[in-house]
Order: sequence, then structure tokens, then C-alpha cells
Amino acid sequence: MTRPDVMITRPIMDAPFERLRERCDVTVHENEFGIPRGELLEVVAGRDAIVTMLTEKVDAEFLAAAGPKLRIVANHAVGFDNVDLEACTAAGVLASNTPDVLTETTADTAFALIMTAARRIGEGERFLRAGTPWIWGPLMMLGQDLHHKTIGIVGFGRIGQAVARRAKGFGMRVLYTDAVQLTPEVEAETGAERRELDELLAEADVVSIHTNLTPETRHLFGREAFERMKDTAVLVNTSRGPVVDEAALADALAAGQIFAAGLDVFENEPQVHPKLLELENVVVIPHLGSATVDTRNAMGMVVVDNVLAALDGERPPTLLNPDAWRG
Ligand code: DGY
Repeated sequence: MTRPDVMITRPIMDAPFERLRERCDVTVHENEFGIPRGELLEVVAGRDAIVTMLTEKVDAEFLAAAGPKLRIVANHAVGFDNVDLEACTAAGVLASNTPDVLTETTADTAFALIMTAARRIGEGERFLRAGTPWIWGPLMMLGQDLHHKTIGIVGFGRIGQAVARRAKGFGMRVLYTDAVQLTPEVEAETGAERRELDELLAEADVVSIHTNLTPETRHLFGREAFERMKDTAVLVNTSRGPVVDEAALADALAAGQIFAAGLDVFENEPQVHPKLLELENVVVIPHLGSATVDTRNAMGMVVVDNVLAALDGERPPTLLNPDAWRG
């Protein structure tokens, strides 16, 4: 019996990789900086399944290059703004993502950024590492408290709600904005109150972004949003970079219009706006939201569950385009 031919665009954790290899012939692309588009279009040809990362654009051109054998594109991420679902459905290709398993880990990352930015931890570390002379003083490197302050969560899905639970543990008041009104049970569990975005921006001491990237949310955080925020406010983004206009953010931070920012994601990854890198009041990390050993193993396992289901003619557990399913 011929074994299915699976392509993975970047190395994944050993356990899911070995599980996939038991059933399939697997090719992994080893270039740590990703596959140039032209090469990608060549190496996807003739595969039965392709495991993509958020760095690969899956569109009609990609699907045409892959060819008619392709059953599934399994994205190794919860976010799927890189995948054109309509094009996948039109090509009869299933698409899947990795929800749930990374919720708590990503919420931890958001909270780490909130604390690091509010309490100037990164700046303090750089200061000491630079060998700067210092002595303790009452006015030294003062940050913002979190306890008893208000957090505004933009996008109240799984990760936003997990951040709310952490904030509640810190004694924070929680506001949220989302297209969907929560059930009274979820509002009671998280203690969250719904606001319009403008109201949330004016009231919040911390604003944490957890919305998907869509045409509507691209540059949702631009000059106008920063004008509405408190000058003591901290902004954190662990969703997708283009939700924030980085040039406008750099200006707002430099002008003291907001207090600080913590960014895990960037508008033009892997680049970071050069003005942001010159500022002390911004914490930047390289898209580490779900980057723990356990979570990357779990994400890999969800990817493999989806690939094997599609190859066995079963419905993938986290299918994104049910219209393409002909089970
Ligand atoms: C995702 O899964 O969408 C994250 O951004 C990377 O883990």
C-alpha cells in the first residue's frame, strides 16, 4: 500500500513528528528562516497533506501548485489569517488549525508582557546589564500598579477570557469588547463587563488585544485609539501584528501618550519597526505566545490528528472550512 506523502514547512516537536512518520512519508523543510515563496510552490507539488506555519500564505496559487492530490492544509497555529479558506473550499481542500491547546499558554504570555511593560522589567534588566551606576532611590524607575486597576480586553474569545481569569486573580476589574455578548455565566466567571471599544480605551489601565486579524481589525489600534487611551495605560498585543499601526504606536509611546507597550507580534514579521526598538517603554519578544514545550507538543498532536483524519476520509477534529467536507 502506498504511504501518503506529507510535507511540513518547518520542523515540529519529535512526538507528533514520529506519530506522523509511522503512517506517512514525511518531508520537512529545514531552512530555519522559512521557504522562499518560489521554492515553496515547487516543494508542495503532489503532496497528500501539507502542514503549514503562520508564515506561509495558503492561497489559490499555493493550492494550484500543490495539485489535485492535496486533501488537507493543517495550519500549525490557532490563527489562520494566512489561509484563504474560500480558496481551500473552492479547491476541495480541507483546512484546520490548533485551537484550545494553546489558550492558557498564550494568556500566560500576555500576562507576562503586561507585567513586564507595566513594571519596567525589561528596561531595568537592560539598565543593569549595561553596567549603569545606580543606588536605590524613592523615585527610581517607577512603573504602574496592576492590582485594583482596570484591564480592557479586546476580543473576548478563549484567550481573552483566559487573560480575564488571570486579571481577576490580580484583583483587576475586567472590561471587554467583542461582537458577541457573553452569557451571564461567562460574565460571572470572568467578572467581565462589556463596553464599546471607545469606552474601554478611555477606562482601561491595561489594554490587551486578542482579536483575529480581519480587514475590520487591521490597524484597529492607530492614532485615534492611542488618543483615547490614558497616558498611564499599557498596551499589549499577542494576537496579530497588523492589528496595531506600529508607526502610530511608536509615536504615541515616544510622546508619552500611553505609558508602555508589550508586543509579541509585529506588523511585518520578522521585522520590528525601528522606532520601537529605540524606545525604553516597549517590550518586544519574537512571537513566543504559544512557545512552551508542552504546548508545542500539544499543537503538533492536533495537527497530526487533523492530517490523519483527512487521510483516513474522516472529518478533521478542528476543521475550519466545513463546506469543503464531503464526508
Ligand atoms: C497562533 O497559534 O496563532 C500563534 O500566533 C502561534 O502559536
